Order: sequence, then C-alpha cells, then structure tokens
Amino acid sequence: MGSMKSEIVLSKFLEQRVSSFNVTSYRGFFAGVVERVSADQLIRNGLFPQIRAALDVFGVLIFKEMSLTNSEQLFIAKNLGFGIHRKTGISAISANRYEDEALTDVSNLDDKGEILSVRDRKRQYGLSNRLWHTDASFRNPPGRYSILSAKVVPEGEGETEFANTREAYYALPESMRDKILGLEAHHSIAYSRQILGFEFSNEEEENLKGVKQPLVRKNKKTGLCSLYLASHCSSVFGMSIPDGRMLIRDLIEHATQDEFIYRHEWCSDDLVVWDNFATMHRGRYYNDTKKKRELVRVTTLDI
Ligand code: OGA
Ligand code: MN
Repeated sequence: MGSMKSEIVLSKFLEQRVSSFNVTSYRGFFAGVVERVSADQLIRNGLFPQIRAALDVFGVLIFKEMSLTNSEQLFIAKNLGFGIHRKTGISAISANRYEDEALTDVSNLDDKGEILSVRDRKRQYGLSNRLWHTDASFRNPPGRYSILSAKVVPEGEGETEFANTREAYYALPESMRDKILGLEAHHSIAYSRQILGFEFSNEEEENLKGVKQPLVRKNKKTGLCSLYLASHCSSVFGMSIPDGRMLIRDLIEHATQDEFIYRHEWCSDDLVVWDNFATMHRGRYYNDTKKKRELVRVTTLDI
C-alpha cells in the first residue's frame, strides 16, 4: 500500500532531521503541535531548517501561546521560505490595512476595526476562504508555507480545517495515481470568487488571469507526492472543461473525507503554519456580522 510506504519514509525522515523540538501529532503524520518553543527561541536560535523539515512530515504545525508582532511574523516567514508573497489575498481588490502588503488581513473588520457590513465587497470576497483551497496557487511562483497568527477569535466557531493531500494521494487507486501524475491544471482566483457569484471589474479580471500548476507535487526532501488542488482550479490541460472540472471535483471530494482532515479550533495567540504543497484548507462558518475575528497571514514563496 502506498500510504504504508509513505509512513516508513516519514518516520525515518523524522528521526534524522527533526531533533531540536518535540512534535505531538493529532493524526499520525499530520498536524503536529510543537511543544516548548517560544517565539524568542524560534527567532534567536534560527530553528527554521528544523521547522521546514517538520513541515515536510506533518504538513501543519501548531504553536500555542505564540503572540507575535507583525514584524516578528514577517521575520519568521522570510526565514522559513525563500522570500515572501506580497499579493496573495484581499490585496487583489482593496488596499491593505497593514503597513506591509505581505501581511494579509484575514478578518471581518474595516480600517477602523469595525465589523464589515453584510454587503461589504471585502466581506463577500473573503467568503471564498471557506472553499477548500491552497494559498496563492493562482500566482507564479505559487505560495509555499502560510503562517497564520490569531489575534481575536470567536468562541466555538470559525475553525479552520486542513486536508492531508499527501495521504489522500496515496489512498487513491494506483490507476488514478498514474492517470493524474504529470497533469497540469489552471488556477485562477477570479474563478474561485466567481463560484460564489462574486463579480470583478474588467480591469481586475485582466490582472487575475491565473497560472498553470501541476496536479501532483513531489516533495523534494521526502520524495513523497501530494495532490495539489484548490477551489482556484478551473480546468485541466489536455481535457475538456467539463471533464477537467469533474476530475478536480472528484479529487477534492476524495481528499476532504473525514479521515484526511484536521480541524483547528482557534485560541488567540495560536500560530499555525502549513505547507500549501501538501495540504488544502478552508475556514468554517462563524457569525461574522456580529462577532470579530482577526488573524494575520504571511505566505512564503517556494524554497
Ligand atoms: C487563510 C485562510 C481561513 C480561515 O488565511 O489563508 O484561508 O479560517 N484562512 O481564516
Ligand atoms: Mn487560505
């Protein structure tokens, strides 16, 4: 079985590469809590190669009680990836309320910190974060690691779910794995927004043409493959539009079955870091016209 092989590769990799901190995982080799590492130690000791190695195994890493300033978060992102993405989210349609374009505002708040009204364009644009996606896969180069820091979170709702697309890949029948290896898909943020009926101006659409990405990615360190899927996938090259969309839909349904999911229930000061090449994620419902939710994300370029 493919997934058995991947577990052996991962446990060997873990022994050799990650020794400076403990990771307690929720689901086998997916979603680990990093124990006893403070922001200060992380930054001062430059634990970035170890974190990258842990991400090669777990896909999602959770740091509890890691309150960060925006500049500390930028510093971590710069050192974790090779460069940071500056236009991943809402920046496509509106000005950023932070000092640096690389800080993506994942909130339901306006410039004054007030809750956005139900018809606000920024709010409606942000709703598509609740579709399964990967960050900045519609850009070239695409996003690699995302670093999401929780400032204010509502209690008991507004979780974020992560799907393990490596495990999902190895759980596919071999014939399907063979069929999709080497295929490429078109990713466009205009497409994922239009799924919910969001409208762009001609000029915005012109800026958001999208890019080609492989449907399966291979991790250069572990040699293991993952599905690279998202709500942004609008077609598969070499297939008719309906055939390509059906394939993508089937693969997303497969990869988001319960057995592949970790659901993160947020506390303020949680820092969650994930590898967009081996996961998909989505936000869940919360009562966003009544309760504040404020997180800040930085996404890196590939290493
Ligand atoms: C993101 C994202 C989902 C959420 O920040 O990239 O998709 O739950 N967030 O806020
Ligand atoms: Mn996202």
